Formats: sequence, C-alpha cells, structure tokens
Amino acid sequence: MITGRLLILVLLVNFTRCDIYKSCSEVTFCSKFRNYPATRSEYFTAEIGEVNEDKMTNILTLPLSNEKDVKLELQVSFLSNFTARLRITEVNRKRYELKEVLDHEPHAVKYDITQQTNHKLRIHPHGLHDASIIISRGAPFSLELAYKTHTRINFDSSQLVFESAEEGEAFSFNVGFQGSTNLYGLHHHADRMTLRETVEADSDPYRLKNVDAGQYQTNSTKSLYGAVPVIYGHSKKSTSGIFLHNAAQQWVDITYKEKLKPSARFIVEGGTLDLFLFFGPSFKDVVRQYVDLTGRMHMPQLWTLGYHQCRYSYLTQDDVKEVVTKMEEYDFPMDAIWLDIDYTDGKKYFTWNPQNYSDPVGLQKYLASMNKRLITIIDPHIKVDSDYPVYVGGQGKYFVKWENGSDFQGDCWPGLSSYIDFLSPEARAYFANWYRYDKFNGSTETLAGIWNDMNEPSVFNVPQWENTFPPELVHYGNVRHRDIHNMYGFLQTKATHEGLLARDKHLKRPFILTRSYFAGSQRYAAMWTGDNTGDWPYLQVTYSECVLSNLVGHVFCGADVGGFFWDPEPELLQRWYQAGVWLPFYRGHANADTKRREPYLFPDDVQTVVRNALKTRYKHLLVFYTLFYQHVTNGDPVVRPLFYEYPDMIDIDDHILIGTDILATPVMEKGAKTKTVHFPGNEDTFWYRADLCTGNWTVHRGGTNETFNVDIQNSPYFYRAGSIVVVTNKQRTSTEGLLDDHFTIYANADPKGYATGFLYSDDGVSFDYQDKDYFCLLEMKYYTHPVYGFHYEQVKGNMELNFSFKEIVVHEIPESGNIAPISIEVVPGK
Ligand SMILES: *[C@@H]1O[C@H](CO)[C@@H](O)[C@H](O)[C@H]1NC(C)=O
Ligand SMILES: *[C@@H]1O[C@H](CO)[C@@H](O)[C@H](O)[C@H]1NC(C)=O
Ligand SMILES: *[C@@H]1O[C@H](CO)[C@@H](O)[C@H](O)[C@H]1NC(C)=O
Ligand SMILES: *[C@@H]1O[C@H](CO)[C@@H](O)[C@H](O)[C@H]1NC(C)=O
Ligand SMILES: *[C@@H]1O[C@H](CO)[C@@H](O)[C@H](O)[C@H]1NC(C)=O
Ligand SMILES: *[C@@H]1O[C@H](CO)[C@@H](O)[C@H](O)[C@H]1NC(C)=O
Ligand SMILES: *[C@@H]1O[C@H](CO)[C@@H](O)[C@H](O)[C@H]1NC(C)=O
Ligand SMILES: *[C@@H]1O[C@H](CO)[C@@H](O)[C@H](O)[C@H]1NC(C)=O
Repeated sequence: MITGRLLILVLLVNFTRCDIYKSCSEVTFCSKFRNYPATRSEYFTAEIGEVNEDKMTNILTLPLSNEKDVKLELQVSFLSNFTARLRITEVNRKRYELKEVLDHEPHAVKYDITQQTNHKLRIHPHGLHDASIIISRGAPFSLELAYKTHTRINFDSSQLVFESAEEGEAFSFNVGFQGSTNLYGLHHHADRMTLRETVEADSDPYRLKNVDAGQYQTNSTKSLYGAVPVIYGHSKKSTSGIFLHNAAQQWVDITYKEKLKPSARFIVEGGTLDLFLFFGPSFKDVVRQYVDLTGRMHMPQLWTLGYHQCRYSYLTQDDVKEVVTKMEEYDFPMDAIWLDIDYTDGKKYFTWNPQNYSDPVGLQKYLASMNKRLITIIDPHIKVDSDYPVYVGGQGKYFVKWENGSDFQGDCWPGLSSYIDFLSPEARAYFANWYRYDKFNGSTETLAGIWNDMNEPSVFNVPQWENTFPPELVHYGNVRHRDIHNMYGFLQTKATHEGLLARDKHLKRPFILTRSYFAGSQRYAAMWTGDNTGDWPYLQVTYSECVLSNLVGHVFCGADVGGFFWDPEPELLQRWYQAGVWLPFYRGHANADTKRREPYLFPDDVQTVVRNALKTRYKHLLVFYTLFYQHVTNGDPVVRPLFYEYPDMIDIDDHILIGTDILATPVMEKGAKTKTVHFPGNEDTFWYRADLCTGNWTVHRGGTNETFNVDIQNSPYFYRAGSIVVVTNKQRTSTEGLLDDHFTIYANADPKGYATGFLYSDDGVSFDYQDKDYFCLLEMKYYTHPVYGFHYEQVKGNMELNFSFKEIVVHEIPESGNIAPISIEVVPGK
C-alpha cells in the first residue's frame, strides 16, 4: 500500500515540476553576466572635459571610454515633473530603440551646470535646485541623482558592461537606492510586495520575459505573463524610482547587503540602455512621474466594474443563457458573461461554432434583455487554413516571419498557426478591421468587450524556446523579436483598442482584458494575473500582485476568483469572493477540467456569503468609479498598499486601501477564526468598521493592532474617519440604472466632527467626459460646527448630476475618547 502511494506521489511531483522555463544558469548571457566581475581595465571614465551641450535638445553628452578602448556615449537630460533620463549608447553601433511604449515623446527641459571641475559635474533642471545630477569622472564613473542634499539613486558604473556584436547585444548595469529600506516593482511576479534578496539568498534573479506560465508558483522570481521594468526604492522618509525603457528579456538581481543601499543589477538581452530616473520624493510623486511617461487609461465603462462570470468554456449558447438566467433568479448581480475559445469555429477567431453557437445574434439579444454583456476571446494566433479569410488576407504580409522571409508557423489552439505582427501599423490595422460588426459576423453591440489571451505569445510544444517565439524571428522594419519580446501582448491590445474604437465610431470606451502586458498597457487594456490555482497561497498573493500593478499604472487589475486550476474548497471560494470585492477587476473563472462553480450551484449558506460579497461590490461601485476618474486625471493608483499613504507601514501584504478612504482586510487564511488588523495612521487617525448589513459600527484608532473574531460571513473593511463614502444600496442585478439611483451617504466624522469626499459621475459609456467635459465631480462636506450640516457642490464638469440621496448615515467618534461603537442615523430632506 505505502509503496504504491509513494510511487504515485513521485510521478505527480515529476509531472508538475517538468518546468520548461530556464534558470539564469541555463541562459548564456545571464549566466555570463551574473558571474562577471568587471575588471579595472573595463571601468569607464566620464570625460567631463569633453562635455557637449546641445542647447536645442537640452541634452548633455559626455564620452565614456575604458582602457580596452570601448567607446560609449552618455546622454543626460531632465524632463519636467522631476524626472531625468540617462541613455548610454555605443559609438560604433546602433541598437534597436524602442517605439510605441511611451505615451508621448518626452522632451527635455533646460538645465544649468552649477559645478564643473575636472572630476565632477553637477547639473540642475533650470530653476529647480532641489533636483540634481552629479557625475564623477572615475574610473569607474558614477552618476548620482540627488533630491535636496541627499543622494537617492546611484548609477554605479562598476558593472556597466556591453557585449560586443559577435557575441550578442546583452548589457548589464547596476543601480543603488541610497537611503531605501525596501525595493518594490519588477511587476509581475507572484510574490510578496517587497522585492526579495536574490544574491545572498542564492536564488535566481527576478526574470522579466513574458511566457505562458500556466500553473505558476507563488513565492518565486520566475517570469510570468507580463513585464514592467520599474523599481521604486522606498523608506519612511522618501521614495525614488527607475524605469528601464527596454522590452527585451531581462534578469534583475536584488541585494540588500549594504545597509540602506539596496541595489538592482540589470542583465538585459538586447536593445538600448535607456533609463528614466524619478526623484520622488513621495510614493505618490514617483508613481505620477512614471505614469506621466507611459500614460493613463481612459475611464472604463461603468458596467466593466461589475462582476464578470467566465469559464473555459461555456460550450453552448443554451448553457450561456442558463447561467445568466440562474444568476438572475438566485439574485447574484453580474454584468458580463465570457466566452473562451470554444465559441469559435475550430478556434478561428471572428467566427462562431456552427453547431453550438448557431445563433450568436439571438444569444446577444437574450443577454441584452437581461442587461448583461458578452465578452469573447480573440487570440493573436491565426489558424493556417486556406479557407479562413483572416489567414488568407494576412498570409505573407501581416505575420511574424523567419529570417528567410517566410511566415513563422507554430502550434496553438487551432493547430498550425501564424501570428499577427503587431509591430507593423498595417498589420495592426488589418487585425483591427476584423472587429467591425460586418467583418466579425454575428457580433452586435452586446458583444461589448474583448479578451486578448495567449499573447506572450504562447506557442505549444517548443520547450527549446520556452513555448514562445524563438528570439531570431523578424518583425516589421527588420526588428528582431528578441528586442521587443516583452511588448508583443501590449501591441496586440493596441490593435484591438484601435479596432473597437473604430467599430463603435469612437462612441464607446473600449474594454479589453489582456493576459500579457508591458509598460504602458494601461492605455489599452485591463489585465488579470493569469492562470492561477485554486489554493490558499494564490488567494493570498492576489493583493500584492494587483497593488504592485496599480503602482505602475496598470490600475484595472484582478485575479481569477476561485483560481483557474483545481477545484477550490467552498471555504476558499467564499474567501476569494470576499477578497475580490476590493480589486478593480472582478471575475470568476475556471479551467475546463474543474467542477462547475457558478455561485447558485452551492448550498444556501455558501450562496449567502457569495451574494453578500457581490452586493458589497455593487454598493461600492461609485467609489471605484470615482477613483478611476482620479487615476485618469493624475495617474494615482485605485488600490494602494498601506505604505503608499502611510510610508512606515511596510510588509503588510494582506491589507489594501481603496483610494484613501476604505481599508480592506479580508480573511485569506484557511480555517481562520480571527483576523489581526494593523490600523494605519497615528492617534489622530480613526477607522470605522463598516458593516452595512447589521449596522453595527465600531471605531478603531490608528497605530494600533486589533484582532477580530471572524466567521465565514465576516471579511472586515473599514471607512476612514474624515471620509464620506457614497453607497448605492438599491438592490440591482447589474449596473443598469445604477447611476440614477438614490444614494446613501456615509459621513464618517473625524474627531473634530468633519468629513469630506468626492463623487464622480458621467454617462458611463462615452468619451464625452473627455471631449465635452460631460461629467460631474461633486465635493461633499459634512460638519458639526457651527451647526450640523451637509453641503455638496459641483466642482468640475458640466453634466448636471441628478444627485439624489435617500439618507445620510453619520458616524461620530464619542467625545469621551473612550472609543465605543455608535451609530447615529440622520435622514434629512435634501
Ligand atoms: C507633469 O505631470 C502632470 C500630471 O501628471 C501632467 O499633467 C503634465 O502634463 C506633466 N508635464 C509635462 C510637461 O509632461
Ligand atoms: C519563499 O522563497 C524563499 C527563497 O526562495 C524561501 O527562503 C522561503 O522559505 C519561501 N517561503 C515560502 C512561504 O515558501
Ligand atoms: C458542443 O457542445 C457539446 C456539449 O453540449 C460538446 O460535447 C461538443 O464538443 C461541442 N461541440 C463543439 C464543436 O464545440
Ligand atoms: C525559412 O526558415 C525556417 C526556419 O529555419 C524554415 O522552417 C523554412 O522552411 C524556411 N523557408 C524557406 C522558404 O526556406
Ligand atoms: C463575414 O462575412 C463576410 C461576408 O460574407 C465575409 O466577407 C467575411 O470574411 C466574414 N468574416 C469572417 C471572419 O469569416
Ligand atoms: C456589535 O459589535 C460588537 C463588537 O464586535 C459586539 O460585541 C456586539 O454584540 C455587536 N452588536 C450587534 C447588534 O451585532
Ligand atoms: C502592530 O503590529 C506590527 C506588525 O506586527 C508591529 O510591528 C507593531 O509594533 C504593532 N504595534 C503595536 C502598537 O502593537
Ligand atoms: C432625474 O431623476 C428623476 C427621478 O429618478 C427622473 O424622473 C428624471 O428623469 C431624472 N432626470 C434626468 C435628467 O436624468
């Protein structure tokens, strides 16, 4: 018996560990650079005497050279908004320069040289003496970024190495974050928030190479589906950051060896060393500085913030109708149902399965009658099939090619496939055009969003290439795939975005979900954390995954509720629905071999918990909508780690802030009977435990830790004292009509008796908020002195809001200082 069991275990382990993804030691350039101590003769000197100032471009240039006679050029410039740019190029060779990623071509501002000796050069942005760059001659030369009198970032050139042309185009460099205690970034990894030590801990460096990482592990530095080469260095005093504008594969070693000077060593496969440096000084500042370069998303349509129901796959149109009908019948709110690959005719995108989806228009009419939307999957691989118009029209023209000019063909869902070359504007236009209603036959307005999956891209059964493209493939403009690998998915969503905009004549804000992404993807798509697993560690890591994504502009983030692989036990499923309430994108999804898990299939007690979670989400939709408006306006994250608002609250990965006013601390541990909450702030900060169901509110002081008893129905969240939270309490099963509801206003008074808040509203669909200022931003104030009152006024936009509220619920902190639960209900007239 025992032997038999062991044997099975061994087989299972072998099966799941069969990992095709390489470690650094298996990748030539990584292993070479990681163990490469640059020698003295390779150290570069900055020839400060030969500085060249271009007054037209505001770029300062310096020659760099070493004893081995390698000649480089250093370009330094300041951009507006406390950002600097550093480029190092080889004098005798041109490398690929990334395009498309930045939101706009940044232009350099005037600068002043305030110190110049043979050994040192100090420059400031003109008129901004708090920010400076100091270049020291060396060798090795160094470049420091200082804010006020403190050096924040140190570009230490002792590890600056460029590979020569014959061997490849890899390069490496090192950046130190002086004064920082924690580094964050290198999104996406399924790990805790703080980047971990990789050098001393003998772990692989963090890897950024987008791959189809199904069943990925948590607590790992391995590559996943998306890559954003940004690192923020943080301490409770200040924050600074860097962004490497480069889409090639890269590995990054992190070390905290030197106290208060953690550092990151980048090892990059190709492309240009083009580094943006952010001065901060606060977390809010660095995020804005980064997002200013790579852009912000437009407002999402309101319905996209509702709940999404998905499965691989709903096999028939009748199945889809049944799910939607049952969700309604059992009172589970939802806004959209999703079709995975099986809705197509043989995995040919833009077609319908003639047997099981014989009446797509009828299906969409039915969904529309229930106020639901349909979202379908469209992948980048195109079936090689001479009867398939999408293939025929693209053959030889719009596909990624081998070096000899023939179309690359690889195996994917449809079998042999070619892949759209999204780097080509013509190929993007070709692909975009298939989204038109008259091209995607059977699509109607109810097909309101698109899901771009498998876009790392995924190629089956080529472990030698880690199941993606070989690096030598050639894109439009003779660009080698190696140089743009990490932006392939980004480019697909750019094409889809163009397609949906054109399809809907710019009247609707496109909704796209993407699995693969890069810096700047927020301009086109929402993203989710990919094919996770229905197990507790995967639930626990969702908060750090989406919070880090929010810190790099990718605010519309979520994780598959319940986990994609495996069957989650009911307790886990319930906890996942509760935690998912507070992430910007909220979708249940499951793999083909899992048991059906639509919420109405569970016993009543489980249904109650899931229903409450979904309703809690719908009640707070306008909170999210208002926060999206703030992101659209200034780049701020929708959900935030505690340290974003409270710089010393680090390493508390299971708490998040929704904007500034809601603290969510869901239960994410199996069998938990208690939950310990670390209340941010100091003795003047208070948090009200919000319990919209029982109306039992308690007050808690900032800076304290409290342990709450929790049963399966409790998933604590809190409103900040001083905030006004607008809730829509009307029972609805979708967002339809929600903007016209009577709201309930929670005025959560601070110790002085004040509360303030904002509410954003618009038509929920169009670009009029952008083009015609057709929106309404209300500022609300609650006060107790000199008299009690509630005041609101429109502070922005020209849409007159039909602002009606049913009740104002006031919470106040008792004057005694003895914090006890109170609840005062005021029901004023307007
Ligand atoms: C600076 O940042 C603000 C806010 O993000 C943005 O509106 C502005 O355009 C930026 N300035 C420049 C010159 O890029
Ligand atoms: C996570 O990984 C690190 C380093 O690989 C290891 O030391 C640690 O024990 C792991 N933690 C968990 C919870 O698995
Ligand atoms: C159609 O749906 C049935 C389940 O009802 C499934 O067994 C069959 O494989 C589907 N056919 C296609 C072509 O997807
Ligand atoms: C081009 O190269 C690929 C990969 O080496 C090869 O499979 C294909 O047959 C070649 N095509 C032609 C026309 O030579
Ligand atoms: C949709 O139908 C039109 C007209 O019959 C045809 O030209 C087009 O290729 C079809 N689209 C697809 C994806 O088959
Ligand atoms: C309200 O909460 C407090 C503290 O958790 C608890 O002692 C009390 O029983 C609750 N009251 C109601 C009515 O639920
Ligand atoms: C609260 O918990 C944190 C994290 O465990 C700890 O660092 C802190 O000292 C605690 N604060 C108090 C007031 O006990
Ligand atoms: C405002 O709301 C009222 C009551 O819900 C409704 O009758 C009216 O049509 C709305 N007005 C506008 C302009 O939407």
